[in-house]
Amino acid sequence: MAGHFQIDENLIPSLEGKTAIVTGGSSGIGLSTSLLLSHKGCTKVFIFDLVEPECPLPPSVHFLRVDVSKWEQLRAAFDSITHVDIAFANAGVQEESSFFVDTYDEKGRLKAPDCKEVIDTNIRGTLSFVKLAWSAMRRSRSVEGGSIVITTGMEGYLGSGMGCVYAASKAALIGLVRSLRSIMPQDGITINAVAPGPTVTGKIFPQHLATPLLKLGVPVNSADAVALAMVYSATARQKRRVEAYGKEKEGDIYQAAVGMERWNGRIIMVQGETYVEVEESLSDLRPFWMGRENLGWVRMGQAACDFRPFPAEGAGEGTGGRRYEYPSWGDEGRVVFAGDLYSAAVDEV
Ligand SMILES: NC(=O)c1ccc[n+]([C@@H]2O[C@H](COP(=O)([O-])OP(=O)(O)OC[C@H]3O[C@@H](n4cnc5c(N)ncnc54)[C@H](O)[C@@H]3O)[C@@H](O)[C@H]2O)c1
Repeated sequence: MAGHFQIDENLIPSLEGKTAIVTGGSSGIGLSTSLLLSHKGCTKVFIFDLVEPECPLPPSVHFLRVDVSKWEQLRAAFDSITHVDIAFANAGVQEESSFFVDTYDEKGRLKAPDCKEVIDTNIRGTLSFVKLAWSAMRRSRSVEGGSIVITTGMEGYLGSGMGCVYAASKAALIGLVRSLRSIMPQDGITINAVAPGPTVTGKIFPQHLATPLLKLGVPVNSADAVALAMVYSATARQKRRVEAYGKEKEGDIYQAAVGMERWNGRIIMVQGETYVEVEESLSDLRPFWMGRENLGWVRMGQAACDFRPFPAEGAGEGTGGRRYEYPSWGDEGRVVFAGDLYSAAVDEV
C-alpha cells in the first residue's frame, strides 16, 4: 500500500440503507463529505455543527445544531438518532493567536494563554464523539460493522510553527487512531483518519490564504478531494493489517488477505489531491527508526499487557474473521478479566 494511490468515486460502494454523522459538516471538508455520502445513496446523513450550511441540502441530509465540545449536547444529539453506521469526527478549529507569544496584564504579569477552543473542539470534542459513536455502534451491532473516521491534519505529523497548539491537537488524534485500531475491531468497528494538507475551505484555510501558495506552485486540495478520502476510509478493504499488536504474531497481519477485511488503523495524507496511506510504512519501518532492540522490548511489553482474550472461532465479518470478547470493567473502572490472562502473558514473554 505504500506510495501514492488513486481514489475515485467508483471505489466507494453504494451506501444505501446507511446512516452517517458528520461533525463540522456545514462547511469545507465536512460539507463535501456529507454531500458525497448522500450522493452515494446514504439513507440519512446528520450534520452536527454550530452553524447551518449556507447551501441547500439534499433531502437525506439533516442539520442538528451541536457544539462538539459540549458532552451533553453531543449525547443528546446521539440520543435523537436511532442508529449510526458511519461517523466522521471532522469538526476542528485553528488557533487565532499564538499560545507562545507573551502578553501581559495591567500589572505586567504574563497572561494565561488561551487554547481552550482548540483543545476542547479538536481533542475533547473528537474524544467525546468517538466514545458516543463507539458506544452507539456497539449497542446496535450491525452485521457489516461500524466505521469511524477522524480528520487529523498533516501538521499532526510534521508540526507547524504557525499553529503549535493546532498541530499538537492533530498529533493527539493520530495517537488516538494508533491506540484504538487494535481494540475497536473487537466490536466490529473500524477506526481510520485522513490527514489533509492545505485545503481550500471555510474558516480554517480560506481562498485568500491559498492564493500565495498557488502562486508559488504549491498544490492545494479541494474539499471534494479530501471528502473522497474520508468516505473511502469508511468503506475500503485491506489485504493486510497495519501492524501486529500485543500477542499477535508478525505473520498475523496477512490473515486479512483471506477475506479482504475492512480498512482499519490507517491514515491517508491528502496533498495536491494525491493520496498516500502512511501508517503501514511507518509501522514497517519501526526497526529502522526506533531500532530493533527497542522495538523488541515494546513488542514484549505489548504482549504482556495485551488483555484481549484470544479470538473466538467463526467470529464476525469485518474483523477478518476475528472477534474478541470485550473485557468487563469493575466498579472502580479497572479491567476485570476472565481467567488469569495477565500472568499467562507474562509467562509467555
Ligand atoms: N482546510 C485545511 O487546510 C485543513 C488541513 C488539515 C486539516 N483540516 C481539518 O479538517 C477539518 C475540517 O476543516 P475545514 O477546513 O473543512 O474547515 P471549515 O472551517 O470549512 O469547517 C469546519 C466546520 O466545523 C464547525 N465547527 C467548529 N467548531 C465546532 C464545534 N465546537 N462544534 C461543532 N462544529 C464545529 C464549523 O462551524 C465549520 O462548519 C478540521 O478538523 C480541520 O482541522 C483542514
